[in-house]
Amino acid sequence: MKFFADTAEIAEIKDLAATGLLDGVTTNPSLIAKSGRDFIEVTREICGITSGPVSAEVVALDHEGMMREAEVLRKIADNVCIKVPLTIDGLKTCKALTSEGTMVNVTLCFSANQALLAAKAGASFISPFVGRHDDNGWDGMQLISDIRLIYDNYGFQTEILVASVRHSVHVLEAAKIGADVMTAPPSVIKGLFKHILTDKGIEGFLADWAKTGQSI
Ligand code: E4P
Repeated sequence: MKFFADTAEIAEIKDLAATGLLDGVTTNPSLIAKSGRDFIEVTREICGITSGPVSAEVVALDHEGMMREAEVLRKIADNVCIKVPLTIDGLKTCKALTSEGTMVNVTLCFSANQALLAAKAGASFISPFVGRHDDNGWDGMQLISDIRLIYDNYGFQTEILVASVRHSVHVLEAAKIGADVMTAPPSVIKGLFKHILTDKGIEGFLADWAKTGQSI
């Protein structure tokens, strides 16, 4: 399973990249606004930190506008992945861009039928938002299972990118289902390393090692 960081904060991305476990980055207009940085500039900087896909989202709602924005965004770097919303115009744009060999992440997916449409449009990634799904009383992980089943039924190559991940159980469940990628805030990714028994074990070993009076 690939791990993408869902952030536009440079320091956090560098920190995760240093672990060697970061496979890409996703941003959205809210995350860009939170960073307080220029969209193009910060996206260029992120593309220089990871060689994996970096999702940059269009804000136009019509196909022509999306194509115009995508043209600007894909010039930033070879690893830019154009993010489009799951609308008719978004999928028209997805089809056009992927036919030309540009990576596309179809975002704001909330149903398995929407995911089926994105795969038919040739999406590189489909982003079902599990956290927002759960927030509204639906079962986000059931959505991931349904998409996995449908994609496997037809051999679609579109990668399932589990988005709106809020905690480690989302990561665990997504991995058990066989999602291809998950994108999460850096705090959630860092939390995966932690276990109280690991910390306790280190503490005990170090205490015993100190009694030996040895050094390595
Ligand atoms: C995905 O690409 C989105 O940026 C993100 O996962 C949305 O998460 P949120 O629901 O926590 O805003």
